[in-house]
Amino acid sequence: MALPFRDVIENISPYVPGKPISDVQRELGLSNVIKLASNENPFGCSPKVKQAIAEGLSEINLYPDGNATLLRESLARHYGLDPEQFVFGAGSNEIISFIAQLFLNPGDESIYPMPSFVWYNTAVRAVGAVPVKIPLRDYTTDLDAIKSSITEKTKIIWICNPNNPTGTIITDKQQEEFLDSVPRNVVVVLDEAYYEYAKGEGFPESVPLLKKYPNIIVLRTFSKAYGLAALRVGYGITSPEIVSYLNRIRPPFNVNTLAQKAAVAALEDQSFVSYAVSETKKGRLTLYEAFEKLGLKYIKSYTNFIWVETSYQSGEIFQKLLKKGVIIRPFMDNWIRITVGTEEENRALIKSLEEIL
Ligand SMILES: Cc1ncc(COP(=O)(O)O)c(C=O)c1O
Repeated sequence: MALPFRDVIENISPYVPGKPISDVQRELGLSNVIKLASNENPFGCSPKVKQAIAEGLSEINLYPDGNATLLRESLARHYGLDPEQFVFGAGSNEIISFIAQLFLNPGDESIYPMPSFVWYNTAVRAVGAVPVKIPLRDYTTDLDAIKSSITEKTKIIWICNPNNPTGTIITDKQQEEFLDSVPRNVVVVLDEAYYEYAKGEGFPESVPLLKKYPNIIVLRTFSKAYGLAALRVGYGITSPEIVSYLNRIRPPFNVNTLAQKAAVAALEDQSFVSYAVSETKKGRLTLYEAFEKLGLKYIKSYTNFIWVETSYQSGEIFQKLLKKGVIIRPFMDNWIRITVGTEEENRALIKSLEEIL
């Protein structure tokens, strides 16, 4: 007798993470391997985080604070918002799934750009809703086409800004015009995982918009510029009403004690974030220069990763770089995504590309 797997799960592929360094070391017998595949922070994290985690170790026999009270209060102070406006996830990834579960019935439509962060697709399909994928225009989210695709069945629109994997942004002006045109009963998720890298330069400040648009949810994370990817802590900022509904389906202790303490410490050390962001921007310029010398097309990025086209199929160049101990992320056709590394990692990547190309 067949087990009762739901039909909608049948065609969902598991998320494919960037290849871990240890796998490559084992499989290829290499000792020096660098990973520029998952948009992690190569500069580590604030030293204050390590101290906070050490202090938290004496509490790991107890369940975490399910309300994440200290983190909630720290973020409320940081943003000048009501603590009730925050919802927490084991990474912003998890909040994406909560949002899909909260608003999407089977057969509802949910719109997102293509290519963009792949988890929108999984979250939408897992609840039996219908993904409406809108191709990018000039490597950028096509807001006009998204607008034209809204129907009576549309419940959630996902805007990844800056967009992963292309690194492009929609500007503050474009975003406001768009939000003005979206019916207020359609939820717009503004996924700003790379906010800290993009802010300034015409990038939207979405948090103040919460007052004007009750239908938006802003997603941020500690995984990128704060350097806490392994700890899994992300948050959504929205109305207390939406937060209270999301909390009905959020598992009780989804963000662990060490992650909560680490996030509080990380938030307090803004100088680490500034350092990591400014080093990343320097690294981006180094890589641009190298790509130009190598005749590679790349898209100007507002993030810690770059969308690059080579003369090889993406899987082929991925394998060639892997053999040299450099892990990048293959995507489609000839396009790959490369995370900006430390100066040394960037040099190693450039050297490998020169040898291959
Ligand atoms: C656009 C975007 N959103 C969300 C996430 C999820 O991040 P996390 O779950 O680590 O907060 C990522 C991770 O790569 C991302 O690129």
